[in-house]
Amino acid sequence: MTPANRLLPLCDTADVPVDEGLQVAVDDFVVAVFKIGDRYCVIDDQCTHGPGLLSEGDVDGEIVECNFHHGAFNIRTGEVAAPPCMVPIRTYHVEVRDGRIYIDTERPAEP
Ligand code: FES
Repeated sequence: MTPANRLLPLCDTADVPVDEGLQVAVDDFVVAVFKIGDRYCVIDDQCTHGPGLLSEGDVDGEIVECNFHHGAFNIRTGEVAAPPCMVPIRTYHVEVRDGRIYIDTERPAEP
């Protein structure tokens, strides 16, 4: 499979709200899309700690706080930003083409 074939279309850039996540479900992927500054970031929507959905979390800069137990992640890097989360959240490489957001499902985001 070539890298171009791995790109999965998610949504339009205009669909992504400011300071909130957008849940997008495509194929087997359920992800949360965020706009951080002028960059689009995509992470798994399912919190690594439990049933919380990060698309429903509170966003403060690069940090999203899960509204289930208030653990937090860095949206750009996927690193844990606050307990009780211990496992980083999966990030995806994002490409924007003609106003559409795509992810590479086999490649993490660049730091
Ligand atoms: Fe997200 Fe517990 S489910 S912090």
